[in-house]
Amino acid sequence: MSRFETQDDQNHPVETTPDFTRMIDRAMSRRQFMVASSVAGLGAFVAAAGVTSGAMKAVASETISGKSTSKKMGFKAVPASTADRIIVPEGYRSQVLVSWGDPLFADAPAFDASGNAHSETQLRQFGDNNDGMSLFPLADDRALLAINNEYTNYEYLFSHQGKLMTADDVKKAQAAHGVSVLEIKRTDGSWQLVQNSRYNRRITANTPMEITGPVSGHPLVQTEMDPEGKVALGTFNNCANGETPWGTYLTCEENFNGYFGTEQSDFVQSADQKRYGIGARDAGYQWHRFDSRFDLARHPQEPHRFGWVVEIDPMDPTSTPKKRTALGRFKHENAALTVNADGHVVVYLGDDQRGEHLYKFVSKGKIDKTNPGANRDLLEQGTLYVARFDSQSDQLNGQGEWLELTHGKNGLTQANGFADQAEVLTFARRAATQVGATTMDRPEWVAVHPSGKSVCCTLTNNKHRGTKDNQPLDGVNPRAKNHYGQIVRWHPSGGDHRSATFDWDLYLLAGNPVVHPDGLYGGSDHINADNMFNSPDGLGFDADGRLWIQTDGKYSNAGDFAGMGNNQMLCSDPETGEVRRFLTGPIACEITGLAFSPDYRTLFVGVQHPGEELSPSHFPAGGDSKPRSSVMVITRDDGGVIGA
Ligand code: FEO
Ligand code: CA
Ligand code: CA
Repeated sequence: MSRFETQDDQNHPVETTPDFTRMIDRAMSRRQFMVASSVAGLGAFVAAAGVTSGAMKAVASETISGKSTSKKMGFKAVPASTADRIIVPEGYRSQVLVSWGDPLFADAPAFDASGNAHSETQLRQFGDNNDGMSLFPLADDRALLAINNEYTNYEYLFSHQGKLMTADDVKKAQAAHGVSVLEIKRTDGSWQLVQNSRYNRRITANTPMEITGPVSGHPLVQTEMDPEGKVALGTFNNCANGETPWGTYLTCEENFNGYFGTEQSDFVQSADQKRYGIGARDAGYQWHRFDSRFDLARHPQEPHRFGWVVEIDPMDPTSTPKKRTALGRFKHENAALTVNADGHVVVYLGDDQRGEHLYKFVSKGKIDKTNPGANRDLLEQGTLYVARFDSQSDQLNGQGEWLELTHGKNGLTQANGFADQAEVLTFARRAATQVGATTMDRPEWVAVHPSGKSVCCTLTNNKHRGTKDNQPLDGVNPRAKNHYGQIVRWHPSGGDHRSATFDWDLYLLAGNPVVHPDGLYGGSDHINADNMFNSPDGLGFDADGRLWIQTDGKYSNAGDFAGMGNNQMLCSDPETGEVRRFLTGPIACEITGLAFSPDYRTLFVGVQHPGEELSPSHFPAGGDSKPRSSVMVITRDDGGVIGA
C-alpha cells in the first residue's frame, strides 16, 4: 500500500486539534512502566525496581546481544539493507516462483515488458502486486497457491504510465487485480509453477460473485445491472487473506473506495460515502471514465458491493466466489480464522484505516468434523463484534470487551439510523462508532497462536494519533503521531474465543532506539539497533509458535527511519520476546504475504511493488529490466525447518 495511499481517516464525527505537546509529554512519562506490559519477565522486574527507561534498554540489549535466550530461532540475523535484492540468512536461499505477468496457462503469452500488451494478455497471466496467499496441499509434492493481486502500478503496466488511458487499458488494469490460483510442484527440493495445470485460474475485477449472507438481495446492493442484488462483478484491492478448515480461501477487499469516482459536477457525497473515503475523485485508477459501473453518480449502490471478505474454492476452477456479508463491510486487511473449542468458527478482522477498528465474527453454526461438506456455508450467518480496549491510567495492558453489532442491540436501532442488520453490516464503521469501539492505529493482519490461547494484531502506524479528539492517546495506541507501529496481543477470557472479554498487552512497540534513545519512540526493550524496523503489517505464526512479521513502512533509511533499510521480514519468539531480522527486500518494495509448505521446510514470501513510483529497482531479473512483484521460495540448504 503506498502509491494510492488512502489510509487517511475519513470522517470520524469530531476532528479538532487538542494540546498536542501535552499528549507527547504524557506518553513519554509512561515509558517507566510501559515495558512491564510488553515483556512480562524482565520488564516487570525492572519497572518495579524503578529503573529509568535508558537503563531498561541497556539491560535488555545485554541480554539479547550477549546470548540469545530463544530456543525457537536458530538462524543468524540479517543486517538492514538498501540493496536491490532479497537477502536471507546464511544457509538459506531464495528463488523466484512467479512474477507479475508470468503466463499461467500453456497457451498464454509471455510477459511483455513494453507496457503495450492488450488486456486479454493480462487476463491469462499472473496478476500484479501479489499480497496475502494460502497454500492448499494436493499431495506431498503438489499444492495450490491462492494469491491476492492487490493492485497494479500504472507506471509499469502501461507505456504511457496511466497518462493516456483507454477503455482497454482499464480492462487490462482490472485484469491485473484480483486473485491468482496456481498449481506448484516440488522437484528435487525446489517448488515450481505448473503452467498448464487444470487448477490455474484468474479471478479479476470482472469475475461474477455471489453476494451471500444478511446483505444478499438488500436494496443497498441492488443496481441497474443486478436488480436482485445477488451477483456482484469482481473483487479488487485484495489485500491479505485467510483460509478455512474446509479448504477454501478467504480474500479480503481493502481500499475498494479508490476505484470509484465521477465527473458529474452536481455529485454530492453522503456521510456514509465520506466515512468510507468514497468521493468524486478516485485514487488515480480512472476506471469510472471508461466503465460506468464505477461512476458514483450513476451507480451509487455499486460501492456497497465491495469491502467484503470473499470465499473462494481453489479446488474447483469453475466455482463462483462468495462475498460473505456477515463479516461486515470495511477496508478488510486479513481474515484470521480459528475453530473455537466448542466448534464455532471465529474470524478476527482488521479495518486498515487511521482511527478505525478491530472486529470479530462468530459463526452461528458449528464445525461438523464428520461431514466437511456441511461446513461450507458456516461464514454465511453469525454475529459480528468490534473491540474496545480498556486500560488503567493508560497503561499498556488491560482488559477489553467485544461489543455486539446486531440490529436492535447496543443502540443499533432505527432511531439511531440503522434500519436493519444489512445496514449495520454495510456500514459497520458507523455501527462500531455507535457502540463505542476503540479507534486504532490502523489494524492490519491478525494471527492466532497455534495454541489458540493468544491472538496478535499489527497496528501499523498512525500519523494522526493524538491530533484528533476521536483518536486520543490510550493504552493500546500510546504514541502521538505514531510512525513506527506496534503489535497488540490479547488472550480471550478462559481461552474461549466466543468470550465477550479478553486481557491484552502490547507485545512490542517498533521504534528507533538510536535516534530516540529515551521514550516510547525508541520502541520496546527487545528492539535494538540490530533489529529495528517500522510499520509491521503482514503477520503469521508457524506451527512451532514463531511469530513472523513483515513490514510495509518507510524505506528512506534516514531521519526517524535511519538504520532500518528496506522493508523486511522478522521473526519473534513469543516466549522470550526476542526479535530477529530474517529477510530484507529489494528497493522500494513491501514484503507481504506468507505461506508455508505443510512440512514447514519451504516458506513462500511476497515481494510487492519493487521500484514503485519509478524508484531504481530492477528486481528480480536485474540488468535494466522492469521491476516486477514476485512470490519467492525460501528454503534451507540443509532442508531444515524454516526459522528453527
Ligand atoms: Fe493492503 Fe493494509 O494493507
Ligand atoms: Ca498490508
Ligand atoms: Ca500496510
